[in-house]
Amino acid sequence: MTPPTGGRGTARYELPSDPAEADLLAAHLWAAGALGVWERPAALVAWFPARTDAVPAGGSWVDEPDRDWQAEWKAGIVPVSAGRFRVVPTWLADGHTPAPDELTLVLDPGRAFGSGHHATTTLCLELLDGLDLAGARVADVGCGTGILAIAAARLGAEVVAVDIDSDAIEVTADNARRNGVTLELAVGSVDALAGSFDVVVANLVTDVVADLAADLVAGAERAVVLSGITDERRDVALRPLADAGLVVDDLRERDGWIAVLGHPGNRPLPHDEAGADDEARPGGRNGQVADAARRPPR
Ligand SMILES: C[S@@+](CC[C@H](N)C(=O)[O-])C[C@H]1O[C@@H](n2cnc3c(N)ncnc32)[C@H](O)[C@@H]1O
Repeated sequence: MTPPTGGRGTARYELPSDPAEADLLAAHLWAAGALGVWERPAALVAWFPARTDAVPAGGSWVDEPDRDWQAEWKAGIVPVSAGRFRVVPTWLADGHTPAPDELTLVLDPGRAFGSGHHATTTLCLELLDGLDLAGARVADVGCGTGILAIAAARLGAEVVAVDIDSDAIEVTADNARRNGVTLELAVGSVDALAGSFDVVVANLVTDVVADLAADLVAGAERAVVLSGITDERRDVALRPLADAGLVVDDLRERDGWIAVLGHPGNRPLPHDEAGADDEARPGGRNGQVADAARRPPR
């Protein structure tokens, strides 16, 4: 959830929705001027400066007195773990003692997505932690707070991060500084990426993953980590990804969301003598490419 900003009271709009339509309805709520949108299992809750007719029909309004939203929101953001990563909000960083082997990510989410608490972010962090990224070139498409880009940089990657939202790029730049990593940043999407990448990571929404499938798969030499895909509509994204040549090596589900780790299976290996036999192997023709990307077990 993104924190609503404070003011002279707000109007809360609760809109019943099923997960299949939540992405689209949330986009309509933001477009209607929402200060914050909270995705619940069967509903979306959005806050507005005042009631508005611009919202999708079917919900109910409640006027709320002024509250210190920032303080309430901050109180709900606690450190969270994913793989070796521990995501710690800036306001708790001073009192934080890292565990042995912990990779601490100190973040201020600001008004960007990616505090580490959403299942899609956590799943991506876990999948990234399983890869050997030392010296790898990584692209993060839709960086939000920069959480995945910074995580990849902490694993030793050179990272380019893009987002269509210029606020997200500013938040990412601040967070990168806080964590002592250097990222290459650009406002934009896959079209803002130049050159080739070993790994592409993108936590977007189902329909955007589907739309960008060909570019996301074509952009990666070794591995692709994707999330933001709802379990119910997984085929909407998985079909174009398969059409683009993605071979799925790992698929994880949590809280109604899925994340996938895959590799571009339609790329010939530099000295590919394996031929047709490899087609039958788990992971497909180039299964060894993804294995090579994985971090060795410790
Ligand atoms: C779900 S958030 C993910 C943020 C962060 N990477 C994480 O994992 O928590 C998706 C982000 O993608 C951005 N976005 C949406 N559509 C995009 C597109 N077509 N290209 C690049 N970024 C996009 C949004 O602005 C948002 O910051």
